[in-house]
Amino acid sequence: MKVIGICGSPREGNTEYYIKTVLESLNSKGHETLYIPLRSMKIEQCEGCYGCVKAHQCVVEDDFQAVFKHLIEADAIVVGSPVYNGSITPRLKALLDRAGFSARWMKNELNTQNGKYDWGQMVFSRKLFAPITVARKTGQTFALSQLTLWAQVNDLITVGSNYWNVGTAGTSGSVNASEDAEGISIMAHLAENIDFLLTKMNAS
Ligand SMILES: Cc1cc2nc3c(=O)[nH]c(=O)nc-3n(C[C@H](O)[C@H](O)[C@H](O)COP(=O)(O)O)c2cc1C
Repeated sequence: MKVIGICGSPREGNTEYYIKTVLESLNSKGHETLYIPLRSMKIEQCEGCYGCVKAHQCVVEDDFQAVFKHLIEADAIVVGSPVYNGSITPRLKALLDRAGFSARWMKNELNTQNGKYDWGQMVFSRKLFAPITVARKTGQTFALSQLTLWAQVNDLITVGSNYWNVGTAGTSGSVNASEDAEGISIMAHLAENIDFLLTKMNAS
């Protein structure tokens, strides 16, 4: 099964470490994995042009399209973000805004008749989604909620661990996630849960 890990950090930091911990574990269990750092990418915010409603795809052309292709092909999506002022990072938010909205319209037409939608299967439906957030001190759970809410409104299935999927690292900006034993064990169990579910999905 295909698993991608998207990193919302603008640097090679702690978030990358946790995501790679999950991906490496899944890779060792036989899954195909791909790490996608957003740090060097140009992904503009959603312009609210509603062009995707008619075109059935996002009409703003930048690095979004390449990442979106991987999102569509994946069976499980790991998304990690540093906590910036209690929130996920802007580039990741831009990606998720555009991905969620345009995915909604890929298989649906605008219904102006009675305001009712039968969305049916959307392109992200029943993909697994594993959110991870990382902070120096606090704000992980709010940012985790942002990612979880994105998954729920877009019909993905959120995967948890034996604690919230969070890391605590980076005092004064240092990159020291490798010293966060508890965080690493949370990620290890998260990978086990993803593998468990992917194996069930593959068998059905
Ligand atoms: C602009 C900015 C805002 C931050 N806001 C918070 C915050 O609200 N709470 C916190 O605990 N850490 C905060 N931090 C620290 C980062 O979350 C921490 O360094 C984290 O390890 C960054 O992830 P990375 O190493 O993957 O880049 C902030 C860092 C930056 C650069």
